[in-house]
Amino acid sequence: MIHIELISALSDNYIYLLHNDKQNITAVIDPGEADPVIKVLKAKNWNLDQIINTHHHHDHTGGNSKLKKIYKSQLIAPLYEKDRISDIDIFVSDGDTISIAGADSKAIHTPGHTLGHVCFYIPEEKYLFSGDTMFYLGCGRVFEGTMEEMWNSLLKLKLLPDDTTVYCGHEYTLSNAKFSIHIDPNNQLLKQAYNNINNKRNEGLPTIPFLLGDEKKINPFLRANENSFASSIGLNLSSPSEIFKSIRTQKDNF
Ligand SMILES: [Fe+2]
Repeated sequence: MIHIELISALSDNYIYLLHNDKQNITAVIDPGEADPVIKVLKAKNWNLDQIINTHHHHDHTGGNSKLKKIYKSQLIAPLYEKDRISDIDIFVSDGDTISIAGADSKAIHTPGHTLGHVCFYIPEEKYLFSGDTMFYLGCGRVFEGTMEEMWNSLLKLKLLPDDTTVYCGHEYTLSNAKFSIHIDPNNQLLKQAYNNINNKRNEGLPTIPFLLGDEKKINPFLRANENSFASSIGLNLSSPSEIFKSIRTQKDNF
């Protein structure tokens, strides 16, 4: 059983600390800064055995070197980002199974936001760490890959079970929800989600994690291959990746 501590960092990042009580192994995912992680490790009296990065952006890797120095942790990161992340000990590629906090985890290569971005899925717990590929009601900006690559990456995530719990890299939910409502105003499930999200943010609470099954019905970026959805939002384009591109471009300018 893996216990997850959600740590807020920088302006809107989330860092995840995973602890396996039975084996006493601790891993951190995407430490954008070290100090908030050290604070929790001290309070819990845990060592830090592993550092895992989904991609090379500084707000996900900025704490690597300080944490590695203090705890002698093993750094696990995508092979495709090897030139942009220093001191990687274990490289991961698409489809690799690695142990994270003592649990088998599958690496899923999701190019688009960056070319080497990898998400991590733990089947035993049905946890997905989606980095900056999928957010609650959103997806990452397409910085390095093509729109088609990003769409194909989201399709890979969409294949995971509905009862997958998703932990993403940022608290962008409220602005994503506003955009989703803007383009899909008649979606009742989305309206309910929007109200819950609004309440949580008003109370200063995180909206993460979220359920993938719900997301398949309300996240517009996951629905570009549903004909009825595309026509309901006025997009009669030829391919899902073109529909995705249109939605992503509208969000970039929202
Ligand atoms: Fe990023």
